Amino acid sequence: MTPIRVGLLGLGIVGGGTWAILERNREEISRRAGREIIVTRAAVRAVDMERVAQKTGGRVQLSTDPTAVVEAEDVDVVAELMGGTEPAKTLVLRAISLGKPVVTANKALLALHGNEIFAAAQNHGVMIGFEAAVAGGIPIIKALREGLTANRIQWLAGIINGTSNFILTQMRDQGMGFSEALSQAQALGYAEADPTFDIEGIDAAHKLSLLAAIAFGIPVQFARAHVEGISRLTAEDIRYAEELGYRIKLLGMAKRTTRGIELRVHPTLIPARRLLANVDGVMNAVLVKGDAVGPTLYYGAGAGAEPTGSAVVADLVDIARMASAAPGHRVPYLAFQPDQVRNEIVLPMADIETAYYLRMKALDRPGVLAEVTRILADQNISIEAMLQKEPKAGETWVDVIMLTQVTQERAIDHAIALIEALVSIDAPVVRLRVESLAS
Ligand code: HSE
Repeated sequence: MTPIRVGLLGLGIVGGGTWAILERNREEISRRAGREIIVTRAAVRAVDMERVAQKTGGRVQLSTDPTAVVEAEDVDVVAELMGGTEPAKTLVLRAISLGKPVVTANKALLALHGNEIFAAAQNHGVMIGFEAAVAGGIPIIKALREGLTANRIQWLAGIINGTSNFILTQMRDQGMGFSEALSQAQALGYAEADPTFDIEGIDAAHKLSLLAAIAFGIPVQFARAHVEGISRLTAEDIRYAEELGYRIKLLGMAKRTTRGIELRVHPTLIPARRLLANVDGVMNAVLVKGDAVGPTLYYGAGAGAEPTGSAVVADLVDIARMASAAPGHRVPYLAFQPDQVRNEIVLPMADIETAYYLRMKALDRPGVLAEVTRILADQNISIEAMLQKEPKAGETWVDVIMLTQVTQERAIDHAIALIEALVSIDAPVVRLRVESLAS
């Protein structure tokens, strides 16, 4: 069979990893794909031209014009590895209009414009691979779309941003504050120069909206996801959580309920004994609960040149095998047949149900806890555990930490407003969500 010819849009970290894997494992990959996969062209930034030319040793035709790469006659498949929404979106749509399959690692692009891109691809009968867009090298898209296809997926929970997981791990292990841990992540090259997407939960929510679409057969709905990051988390809460037998992780949670879908990213206490609680540093993991298989866990590197390149190459192999098959015989983009993707309600946060961690500063005098527990009881909120710290020398305020049982967020918010109004409580009350992740 003739080789399949790839045009890379971007030959930076992920593009470089993809190229290196294709070079090193060329024979093994073609034995699997049934044909050779070769990179014929790549679009690179002018400043990178010399470095990339040296690395690729003249075996790849380099250009600073990505449109020319997309349109080139010797490019059968386009791998968009440049990131950002523009010009990535225009280039991807151009490739689709030319009938060229696309592989992309661009979670932001698909989270914001995936529905439009998949619809265009469907119209042109073109394959789109996006394994690399979620959790780097972990084949979670493949697992959800194919391996778990027998199941009604009930929920999934993921640590899907390595940078924030590294920061949380440093805060816990080294007792660092948030800013110090972030500086360390930046020094090690984990966090972007502008780390907002990583630390404010946006990157995780991009990925979560893709996972939820595939898990539940709904459109990609990033705009309706609740997004909360780790930048306001204190070392104090991490320590108290630990004392109560929990670890705090930035969790992406997608859950099917009888009232709608919960779609949320936020710092979350999870029991320390869970495998997911022990996913540390920059590693990623996704726990999926299917009705037939039960819980399954996927763990690995969520970023990096070759782990992400591994996912890009897997998509290229799928394309090498299937691009010539009739579109109806391929795995659907979002796992469900396009006409079976349903627009289910995504619940507002007030309607979600979970357990809560509350930390408050209370006056150290009789009756204060009784006032707080009365308010919780009035909202029908049951207390699971409680911790009261010794007052520091000369202080009249003490830290009180409570874990509640599962309740509605509306009820806990109402209770917190009432607690904060007590003269014996020094507002604000810190509120974090708790997930037991029990199967
Ligand atoms: N910025 C991402 C992370 C890497 O920290 O996980 C790739 O998605």
